[in-house]
Formats: sequence, structure tokens, C-alpha cells
Amino acid sequence: MRAKPFLKWAGGKTQLIDQIREQLPLNIIEQPFTFIEPFVGSGAMLFWMLDNFPNLEHAVINDVNTDLTNCYLTIQNEVENLIKILAEWEFELHNLSDNQEEKKEYYYTKRTLFNQRNLEQTEQSALFIFLNRTCFNGLYRVNRKNEFNVPMGSYKRPQICNVENLKLVSNALQNVTILNGDFSQTLEFANENTFFYFDPPYKPLSETSSFNSYSKDEFCDNEQIRLAQFCERLNNENYSWILSNSDVKGKDPNNNFFDDLYANFNIHRVNARRSINANPEKRGKLTELLITN
Ligand SMILES: C[S@@+](CC[C@H](N)C(=O)[O-])C[C@H]1O[C@@H](n2cnc3c(N)ncnc32)[C@H](O)[C@@H]1O
Repeated sequence: MRAKPFLKWAGGKTQLIDQIREQLPLNIIEQPFTFIEPFVGSGAMLFWMLDNFPNLEHAVINDVNTDLTNCYLTIQNEVENLIKILAEWEFELHNLSDNQEEKKEYYYTKRTLFNQRNLEQTEQSALFIFLNRTCFNGLYRVNRKNEFNVPMGSYKRPQICNVENLKLVSNALQNVTILNGDFSQTLEFANENTFFYFDPPYKPLSETSSFNSYSKDEFCDNEQIRLAQFCERLNNENYSWILSNSDVKGKDPNNNFFDDLYANFNIHRVNARRSINANPEKRGKLTELLITN
């Protein structure tokens, strides 16, 4: 068995991995290398890399979402305690399974507790995982005050504590450096032979499909531009990278935002499926961009 993502996360990359594999910089990964993922989210790419590349000497992950990176730290260092707490909550919730009102009260009490953010890290991480497994569509959405505000989902008996996978994840994370902050801080962890994979919040295809509020700070066009400049810098310093993003040109042929930003690099258009979307009609096939240097 291999470790797999322990969260549901918008933009999870499981379905793009075959296409990413085709673009990997072979000259880098056929020797001992460092892997850096500055926007880790639920880490589908991280776990796949850890599992498939014996030459991967060191991995560095980062995300601006502190609740998320604390969760990685808890699994790395405190997995047994985490499992104890989650197993107890799963048992309690499943025991309420016929009583909708009691289930609701259970969920919203946990959500309030999470938003107070005054528990020690292991319990706070357990709350994060609990909410992720039981909320509507596994969404992560916070308001301006960083309060998680997703309503309860309609699962009958959601799995909250996957003991085997949490242990596998903990094991896989033992040689991983976990950072919390802006993507740009990862540069100082690069060494000679380093491969970066960037999966930033996607540029929305339209105003209404704005699905990139994972954190209280929006990832607007200026952020996309700052990221492209960072990639340019990495290229100048001889690092390899792959970046994914939405294909805004697929929706509007006159929209050259990414074609212009990454004009010096290779732009591949690939088929992908969105896994989290409240509207089933929007779950269909879409092209996405994989850009490489
Ligand atoms: C598209 S998601 C990554 C999905 C991930 N590849 C997966 O498989 O689940 C983008 C992530 O970028 C993070 N993020 C947003 N702005 C950031 C920034 N300035 N620096 C680092 N991470 C950021 C968000 O918290 C979110 O987890």
C-alpha cells in the first residue's frame, strides 16, 4: 500500500499525473534530486513523487494555509495521537447516524471549536481533517476573518479516520521539510539538481467560477504575474519546473493571458477533469495548461 492524499482538496492533481509524468525533466530526476512543491494542497503530486522516484533525496513542501501545513506537521510528528482523536470522533458521529439534528449539532460544534483556534496543534489538526471529511463537498472556504464557513455535507457514514493511510502518510513525510508561507520562500531550499512542481490556485475561467479562495488572501492576476516572474528567475538559475493552470484560452480564444506570460516556455494543453464542483454540469472535460521550462 502507498500513501495517498489524506484530504479532499479543490484542484487535487490525481487525474493529471499521467500527463505530468510525460513532461518530467528526465535529466534531473535520473540522478539524486530535490523535489519542491510550493503550493502543496492535498499533495497528490508529492505522494506520487515520493513513491515513484527512488532518486528523490529530499522533498520540500509549502502552502500559505497554516491550518493545512500544521496538519502535515501533526501527521509527521504526532500521528498516533491524531489517530486516537479522529477514531473517537468517527465513532461518536457514526453513532448518531440516524439523527440528523444531532449530527448537525455535532458538526457545527466542531466547526466553532476549530474557528476559535485555541487548541493545541494535534487537536486543531484533527478538527481540520474532521471538517474536511464531513463538510459539503470537501470544500475549504474561509471568510475575511479566516473562519471556516462551509456547511455540513450530506454523507451517511463519512470515513474520518483512515488509520492505515495516516500511518503511511506519516512514514512518507519523515524526510520532507514542511514550510508555511509564500511560494517564493522555497527558493532557498533548492540545490544544484532541483525540480519544482507548481500548482497555484487556478485563474478563474469566468467571474462566476471564482473557485480560488482557499485562503483569506486571493490569488489575483498580479499574483499569477509574480509567479511567472519567479519561474523566469528559476529558469535563469537553471532549475527545472512544471506548472499547471487553467486554460483561459479554451474558454475565450482571445484570452492570451498565459500564452503571453509564459511565451518563453513550453505550453502544453492537456485534458483533465475537475473533481470538486458543486454543479455536475461543470464537471465535464476541460483542457488545462502544463507549462515547462
Ligand atoms: C490548486 S491548490 C493545490 C492543489 C494540490 N496540487 C493538490 O493536489 O491538492 C493551490 C494551493 O495554493 C495555496 N496558496 C495560495 N496562495 C499561495 C501563496 N501565495 N503561496 C503558497 N501557497 C499558496 C492554497 O492554500 C492551496 O492549497
